[in-house]
Amino acid sequence: MSASEKTNKSQRVTLHVVSSLDGFIAKKDNSVSWMDTKSVYEGGVSISHEEIVAFLKTIDCYVMGSKTYEHALELGWPYGDTPVVVVSTRQLSSTKKTVEFYSGDLRTIVDEKLAPRYRNIWLVGGAMLCQRFLELGLVDEIKLTIAPVLLGDGLRLFDGPLTEQQWDLKNAVAYKNGFVELTYDAVRT
Ligand SMILES: NC(=O)c1ccc[n+]([C@@H]2O[C@H](COP(=O)([O-])OP(=O)(O)OC[C@H]3O[C@@H](n4cnc5c(N)ncnc54)[C@H](OP(=O)(O)O)[C@@H]3O)[C@@H](O)[C@H]2O)c1
Repeated sequence: MSASEKTNKSQRVTLHVVSSLDGFIAKKDNSVSWMDTKSVYEGGVSISHEEIVAFLKTIDCYVMGSKTYEHALELGWPYGDTPVVVVSTRQLSSTKKTVEFYSGDLRTIVDEKLAPRYRNIWLVGGAMLCQRFLELGLVDEIKLTIAPVLLGDGLRLFDGPLTEQQWDLKNAVAYKNGFVELTYDAVRT
């Protein structure tokens, strides 16, 4: 189903990643200290811990590629008790009751596994899975958070054979820490 065919559906797939200014979402060594910048933007907004917690409660499930999953396990699980769907061709297993693994056609996964159960679905990386979702028109919203740093090298978010797609800017928020969150909706023609 293309984005244009999904106007009446109840679920919404949001792609969310943090990117450097030059378009990288990960360094080659997988270190994440580049996200802890010392930048201060006085005109920016700040959000409280309580607001973040309340917002995260609105997310019904996270979807990610197996590499992002494995990295999250190394870093310390950030997804709490929210259901997590990991896409992999391998036979993986987890001791976490909230984690499920799927392989196969991504459209089928979204339409038959996720849509009946979840409304607010967050696709949180990595680059490979995000590109597949975008190619298939499975993303309704892009939330791109730009960190105030140039990395020069690493894993590019958009490095695949994407075709031209128009997106509507819906919101832009600058934070006190210098990060900027851009929200786009898929253009439905
Ligand atoms: N900055 C950010 O916001 C952000 C967010 C997320 C991740 N990251 C970083 O990005 C890196 C990982 O990204 P990545 O692009 O290398 O990998 P990824 O997208 O997380 O995972 C790729 C894996 O997902 C599975 N996969 C992807 N498409 C599939 C399909 N159509 N069918 C079945 N399985 C599929 C495959 O797993 P198998 O090989 O197991 O079959 C593939 O190897 C990590 O360093 C992570 O920390 C950054």
